[in-house]
Amino acid sequence: MSENPPETSESVHVDVEALDNVLAAPAEDFKRDYLEIRGLRVVFDGFVAVDGVDLTVTSGDLRFLIGPNGAGKTTMVDAVTGLAPATGSVRFGGVELLGKSSHRIARAGVGRTFQTASVFEELTVLQNLDIAAGSGRGLKTLLRKRSAVPAEVEAALETIGLTRVAQVPAGVLAHGQKQWLEIGMLLVQNAHVLLLDEPVAGMSQAEREETGLLLQRIGQQRTVIVVEHDMEFMRTYASSVTVMHQGKVLAEGSVGEVTADERVIEVYLGSRSHGRGSAGSMAEEAR
Ligand SMILES: Nc1ncnc2c1ncn2[C@@H]1O[C@H](COP(=O)(O)OP(=O)(O)OP(=O)(O)O)[C@@H](O)[C@H]1O
Ligand SMILES: [Mg+2]
Repeated sequence: MSENPPETSESVHVDVEALDNVLAAPAEDFKRDYLEIRGLRVVFDGFVAVDGVDLTVTSGDLRFLIGPNGAGKTTMVDAVTGLAPATGSVRFGGVELLGKSSHRIARAGVGRTFQTASVFEELTVLQNLDIAAGSGRGLKTLLRKRSAVPAEVEAALETIGLTRVAQVPAGVLAHGQKQWLEIGMLLVQNAHVLLLDEPVAGMSQAEREETGLLLQRIGQQRTVIVVEHDMEFMRTYASSVTVMHQGKVLAEGSVGEVTADERVIEVYLGSRSHGRGSAGSMAEEAR
């Protein structure tokens, strides 16, 4: 990233321990949570981008969703979060989400991040979190400097390691920090399901490790789906994996199971020529 963020490397670290304060809700609240996707289908002008996907993810799972470029991963996340028109069923906690507006889906506890970070660049880190926390104040009040920061926002700031840059415009943060800010925004809006689209793309190795630990901790309680191309990252942190190809679920299981699956290896070999650098690595390693 070309930006030169203030006070970065030595001052900014994810604080996984501080997460307990953000995940303040009792674990029981999340126990029965699960996301249940059935027969999900998204068609763009006759092109079937998601073709009858079934997927169940329970809380306590850190599910990775992988697959070559164009497999339909982002489109599936879009459909679940109300940003792409879809048919089939997406239920969370027994409630049908399909057909609801993206706003209502977010309020139902399903949050997502984007492949390109989507924070409010002109607003400070704190203001971004404030908005996500939806503390019920009007925009004017929100933009006024306040002395007191809501406890859950403060805890989220600590967790995502951005306390010292709280007053800095989000636009000048490093790419990794923006992703952490987005994750923090999901935490304060109390998302029970977090769908993260390539959260570690463009991150340094150190940032990846911190992000992985953060996601593992969040995944212990909440339902987390991570769309990712980075096989090394997937191997280290996934508790289960779903592989998509051409809009369909190709394979599902543990990291060991899917990486040993001949069909998965085949798909990754086939995509090597036009995928990102890491896309073929699994197949290469499997040889
Ligand atoms: N709005 C759209 N209109 C038409 N086609 C689309 C649209 N969005 C996505 N597609 C197509 O749907 C397919 C799936 O795209 P999608 O972005 O979901 O893939 P992906 O698995 O997220 O890929 P990547 O790993 O490159 O991010 C692609 O062929 C893409 O070109
Ligand atoms: Mg994508």
